[in-house]
Parts: sequence; structure tokens; C-alpha cells
Amino acid sequence: MKGAIFDLDGVIVDTAKYHYLAWKELADELGFEFKESDNERLKGVSRMRSLEILLEVGGITATEGEKIKMAESKNQRYVEMLENIDKSELLEGAEEYLKKIKADGVLIALGSASKNAPFILEKLQITDLFDVIVDGNSVSKAKPDPEVFLKGVEGLNLKPEECCVFEDSQAGIEAARKAGCGVIAIDKDGVLTDADKYVKNLGELL
Ligand code: BG6
Ligand code: MG
Repeated sequence: MKGAIFDLDGVIVDTAKYHYLAWKELADELGFEFKESDNERLKGVSRMRSLEILLEVGGITATEGEKIKMAESKNQRYVEMLENIDKSELLEGAEEYLKKIKADGVLIALGSASKNAPFILEKLQITDLFDVIVDGNSVSKAKPDPEVFLKGVEGLNLKPEECCVFEDSQAGIEAARKAGCGVIAIDKDGVLTDADKYVKNLGELL
């Protein structure tokens, strides 16, 4: 492994619960129940695609303009919830593993679907550990499209087969496969398939 490309939500930081709470508030306003099991389908997918899945769950149709407003309002709530996050939200072993492989000379990229990724990295004080940042602001095609990881590979100036992707979503594993990278799944619930290796958290790799 010459390069390591990390997803953010669910691999480095436990933000999935805030995404869920913010989407749930929107579902409550729209008058339907959004369960935690439904939230699984939102992992790894873009904000607008997440909204479409949510509306599908509630059986609601909306115009493009309404969808944009809904996505904006969910994001506003999500960002408010993130305002007070700190290093305590880092997942087990994440910072230690990043520091260890960096010391070993491995190049590190972020490969996240989130447009909030730079803000979250700053809050966690780990921005400096990344050589390259590819996030929801720099890609046009969402996972399972390989674009996010191909940009990471390119940014590190490596070949896909020299890089390993760390992912907690099925869409992300599929994207990494399509990019031609190795994949380690962060699979605390034992629900993922198609990876080269499965761990509960990055700490297991130390
Ligand atoms: C991914 C999350 O990391 O980012 C998804 O797993 C989320 O659930 C996506 O929808 C987009 O995030 P944001 O912060 O741009 O709304
Ligand atoms: Mg994730």
C-alpha cells in the first residue's frame, strides 16, 4: 500500500447519527416515520440522492425547487449539530492509524461524498494528516461511481492498484472496486460484502 484513501463518515468519524437525526427532523416535518434501518440506504450516497431515498420512503413527490429547499434545511440542521463536535467523535483507532501509516511513508487522501468534509476535518483537527482532499465539492458523480477514488489516486500521483480504500458503505466498496483499488471494509455490524478485508474499526489494523 503506497496510498490510502479514506471515506470520512463512518470510517474516521461517527457522523452517521447526526445525518440520521437531521433527516429524521425533515421526515417528521413532512409527516412520516424515518427509521434507523432506512438510514442504512443513505450511507455513502450524495445529499440529493439521500433526499430522494428519504422521499421515496415517505411516498412523497416534490418539485426540484422544493427538493433543493429541503436539502438545504436538512444541511443547516446537520451543520448546527456538528458545531460542537470534537476529537471525542473520532472512531476507535482512526487518528492513531492515520498517524501510523503516515509515519510509515504511506500517502493519504480523503475520498468522501460530503460537502461538509473540510469543516469536519477542521473540527477534528486532522486536516494536516491528508496529502489530498477529494470531497463532495470536487466530484460530479456520486459513489458507486469511482470518480471520487480515481481523483484521490490521481492526486496522490499513484496507480489504483497501489492504493487501498477504507469504506463503511456498500456504494463506496463498489466505487473502490470500479476504480481498481484494494478495499478494507469498516463493518461494525457485519453487513458489507465484496471487500478484501473486514474490520470493526481502524484500531483493529494497528
Ligand atoms: C457521506 C454520507 O459521507 O456524505 C452520506 O455517508 C451523506 O450519508 C453524504 O449523504 C453527503 O454529505 P453532506 O455532508 O454533503 O450532506
Ligand atoms: Mg461512509
